[in-house]
Amino acid sequence: MAAMDRIRNIVILTGAGISAESGIDTFRGGGGLWEQHRVEDVATPEAFARDPELVLRFYDMRREAIQTKQPNPAHFALARLDAEWPGELLIVTQNVDDLHERAGAKRVLHMHGEHLNAWCTWCDVRSSWRGPLLNRPPCPACGARALRPDVVWFGEMPYRMDEIYAALRGCDMFVSIGTSGAVYPAAGFVRDARELGARTLELNLEHSEGSAWFDESRLGPAGELVPAWVAEMLL
Ligand code: OAD
Repeated sequence: MAAMDRIRNIVILTGAGISAESGIDTFRGGGGLWEQHRVEDVATPEAFARDPELVLRFYDMRREAIQTKQPNPAHFALARLDAEWPGELLIVTQNVDDLHERAGAKRVLHMHGEHLNAWCTWCDVRSSWRGPLLNRPPCPACGARALRPDVVWFGEMPYRMDEIYAALRGCDMFVSIGTSGAVYPAAGFVRDARELGARTLELNLEHSEGSAWFDESRLGPAGELVPAWVAEMLL
């Protein structure tokens, strides 16, 4: 029986592993970003208050780097699924790069923010941003020199949780791609989806911390697994 006859609504959670083959560092594991930098030094509101230059420099480097990277076959396959899937579909990404969008995906929600946005802590407006923030440029909306990266730090609330839980409540299938399952609330989505009756599938290089919650785990590189899965879904 074709997948479309059984499944209508899909939620896809993506993490750093989907962008690894594009040359963007993951966070955990050998050589991951959190082995090169302490989270407490660069990814918390306290770090920004203590040493804003260090934090801004770190994110300026990351912002510059992602603009030199290209989407890989996994991003393109999800964009194809997004374009062709007739039911509800939501790609919830923990990634702050724009590779899903550059591959052409439309139904994308960035729960941890976006590198290519700056957030004014004075007027609360978010502006699209490609250059550095270290030099404390003025906010395009209000002129205050109060811009910070629009990236969710540890201890802050991820974005658009109501929309995510509404999608999880209505989904028949939950798919997790390239995430270690180490960071909540995203790591808990598989449990929520499963308890609400969805089929759960993991596509990852290795078993994640939440592997036991998935009906099926397929192990390998996202650039191979995701196009194969999408082809199955669109049969
Ligand atoms: P992690 O670095 O924790 O996990 C990446 C996962 O991708 C690991 O399980 C890898 O095995 C897997 N992986 C690596 N290469 C892969 C490939 N080519 N194909 C498939 N899988 C591959 O990254 P996340 O789970 O995304 O949060 O991390 C979650 C959050 O922790 C991030 O959004 C970030 C971080 O701290 C914030 O900054 C708020």
